[in-house]
Amino acid sequence: MPTTMNQVEFSPDEIKTFRKETPGCTEKIHLNNAGAGLMPVPVIIAIQEHISLEAKIGGYEAADKKNREICQFYQAAATLLNCKPSNLAFTANATDSFSRALSSIPFRKGDTILTSNEDYISNQINYLSFVKRFGLNLVRVSSLPTGGIDLEDLERKMKALHPKLVAITHIPTNSGLIQPVEFIGDIVRRFDSLYLVDACQSVGQLPLDVEKIQCDFLSATSRKFLRGPRGAGFLYISDKALDAGLEPLFIDMRGAEWVQENKYVPRKDAMRFEDWEFAYALLLGTTSAIKYAMDIGIDRIRNQVTYLTDYLIAQLRTISEIRVLDKGESIGGIVTIAFNGKRDAASCKEYFAQHNINIVLSFRNFAVIDFDEKGVEWAIRISPHYYNTIREIDVFVKSLRSLIYNATLP
Ligand SMILES: Cc1ncc(COP(=O)(O)O)c(C=O)c1O
Repeated sequence: MPTTMNQVEFSPDEIKTFRKETPGCTEKIHLNNAGAGLMPVPVIIAIQEHISLEAKIGGYEAADKKNREICQFYQAAATLLNCKPSNLAFTANATDSFSRALSSIPFRKGDTILTSNEDYISNQINYLSFVKRFGLNLVRVSSLPTGGIDLEDLERKMKALHPKLVAITHIPTNSGLIQPVEFIGDIVRRFDSLYLVDACQSVGQLPLDVEKIQCDFLSATSRKFLRGPRGAGFLYISDKALDAGLEPLFIDMRGAEWVQENKYVPRKDAMRFEDWEFAYALLLGTTSAIKYAMDIGIDRIRNQVTYLTDYLIAQLRTISEIRVLDKGESIGGIVTIAFNGKRDAASCKEYFAQHNINIVLSFRNFAVIDFDEKGVEWAIRISPHYYNTIREIDVFVKSLRSLIYNATLP
């Protein structure tokens, strides 16, 4: 856990502007950015305008008319991730991105997938499904007592197992742990393995550079720290993976051309991983969210999120009835806490809802290995973003104290 407090990054005026551009800020104390961040006005407008255009002139015709703006998505996402537009596919969500990548790998019986104990629940279920259907081996790298994967164990297992795939979740859903994806990339690159990174929780709050991570695939969602719409995501596919001919199992008429009765030819670029039909309004909203975040500066966003997270953790540590569960040298914008005594989960969620505070609960089955190791059945997940204020965090902590000590809020 971090020992020093990070400095505040944004001035009060800047925060005021962010909040003015975020209608949701006036309704609630939104500390559920790991669920879905609040969309800023330009994102909302981009989506609404396109829906209106579709209603007015027709969906296909609206896509034709907005072709130039639609193409900008690939450029914006490429700048965000430091790759070429031709390495990007637009998808329906992070899980969709992840499964398309996974489905493209030509696994053979006995191949190994190497992952972490902390990987995201749906990814773990995907691996287990592959084990069940194709007879693969699933192996997990040991975790360090301080949090995150043990790089020495990773190297040992790479040498011993030569996995077909190394798949790592950058920040898991149930904790603020940040896995060292660049160091992992340095090791994986020395072997003939594919490397898939789930950046669902890190995109929009941490700088991501696929050249530095050296991954073959990176999956992302639009709606969380990037502050885009629900129902949208994207996938980075490296030139190496594209040139090797990897293609999603359910490739369709967008990803491939049907040239002869029994023959199709996949596209050369990453659109090979897209479906023909997708939500153009959400793509335009995602483009706007990416540009909005980059205009503010991802480095600055990261600093402010760290500042707020450190502050929150420092406040929580003063309450002896709870335990902060998150491990790692630095914590992303997700903080999880558990009560030391028994508490009813449903009434706890209800309590915060009544106090106009958006938080969510994380349960053991979201992170079986991690929560069993921490000895908890459920936890409260608080996920601030740069537009949240110290005052909002104070209100949350005060409400938590009131819940614990059974006092009523003023
Ligand atoms: C770490 C992580 N990966 C993947 C996902 C799945 O994202 P989506 O709901 O966009 O499919 C989540 C969702 O919470 C997540 O936290």
